[in-house]
Amino acid sequence: MDAKDLDPSTRVVSSGRPEARPDNPVNAPIVPASTFHAGGRLEYGRENNPTAAALEVALGELDGGEAIVFSSGMAAANALMDLWPVGTCVIAPNTAYTGVAVRLRELHERGHIELTHCKITDTELILSLLPQSQVLWIESPTNPLLEVAELEVLISHAGTHGVTTIVDNTFASPVRQKPIAMGADFVLHSVTKILSGHSDLLMGAVIARQHVDWEKLQVRRVLLGAMPSAFDCYLALRGLRTLFVRYEKSEANAIAIAATLAAHPGVSRCRYPGWGTIASIEIDGNADRVCESTRLWTYATSLGGVESLLERRRRWPRESDTVPENLIRLSFGIENPDDLWADLDQALSHR
Ligand SMILES: Cc1ncc(COP(=O)(O)O)c(C=O)c1O
Repeated sequence: MDAKDLDPSTRVVSSGRPEARPDNPVNAPIVPASTFHAGGRLEYGRENNPTAAALEVALGELDGGEAIVFSSGMAAANALMDLWPVGTCVIAPNTAYTGVAVRLRELHERGHIELTHCKITDTELILSLLPQSQVLWIESPTNPLLEVAELEVLISHAGTHGVTTIVDNTFASPVRQKPIAMGADFVLHSVTKILSGHSDLLMGAVIARQHVDWEKLQVRRVLLGAMPSAFDCYLALRGLRTLFVRYEKSEANAIAIAATLAAHPGVSRCRYPGWGTIASIEIDGNADRVCESTRLWTYATSLGGVESLLERRRRWPRESDTVPENLIRLSFGIENPDDLWADLDQALSHR
């Protein structure tokens, strides 16, 4: 059976495993090593690790490129930004994950890059800027406004103009979106979120379309000191095996509850693209009180875990002012949808 003929949900279960021979473990072992006996491929733990390499095989297969893992999603984002020569013209969403948005602004203010912000849904404006740009940074759906870009159009036009495209695919994951197959140069993931899926580690990954870019990123990882630990790589690979089941269950919960939320008198707006595991609601009343009143939903930052989480995003001082003050981001977990709704309904009554 050729692995290429298998569905991604099957391949993610079997990829990145040790060779199938007697006495070999079925799972990639945790190799906690800062150094290796000299003369081979491995040498030093900041450069290589066999557990990380196993995870990279599985991540690369999923997104259809060459994966490299980092100690967090932000470390992965910074490694990508570190590839840009001074003066690079970058187009970026006016609302994106806070950390990425702040870093891009910092690089601009220090004179390292020229930065133009666009609404990621404004395809016409983005296309008009491509001839004067070198990098297009896409996040789709955006965090936390859930705006969806016309990915194929943006990526293909960027390619025509020789513009490097980077797609932060954290929300869609390779279950719903494969930017490399559309021609994107890099996919970025916060592996911390749904790829690992259990809120028990921090990790990032970049999937590069071309081997030469992978090599450049590998050097960045070594020099920035952004290698994740072997134990975290083991946990991430273990979580990744169930990605499709978790994604589909969380998404089914989101679909079931988003429509009810939109009709609730306490919700002035429900943002949900119709797919995915995240929704955002605007509260007609006190959003903090709603977050503090849940019993099953956990009031905590982050997303993509098996447990449902919620938070008011503007409680973070660095969050963009394009995000409404009363917006709560909901990350749907894999619990029973009736239980999830009953808890949200009672929490909304405290607004
Ligand atoms: C869309 C997106 N990209 C990148 C990141 C950064 O990832 P990490 O927290 O793993 O550094 C996050 C974190 O929330 C995110 O939501």
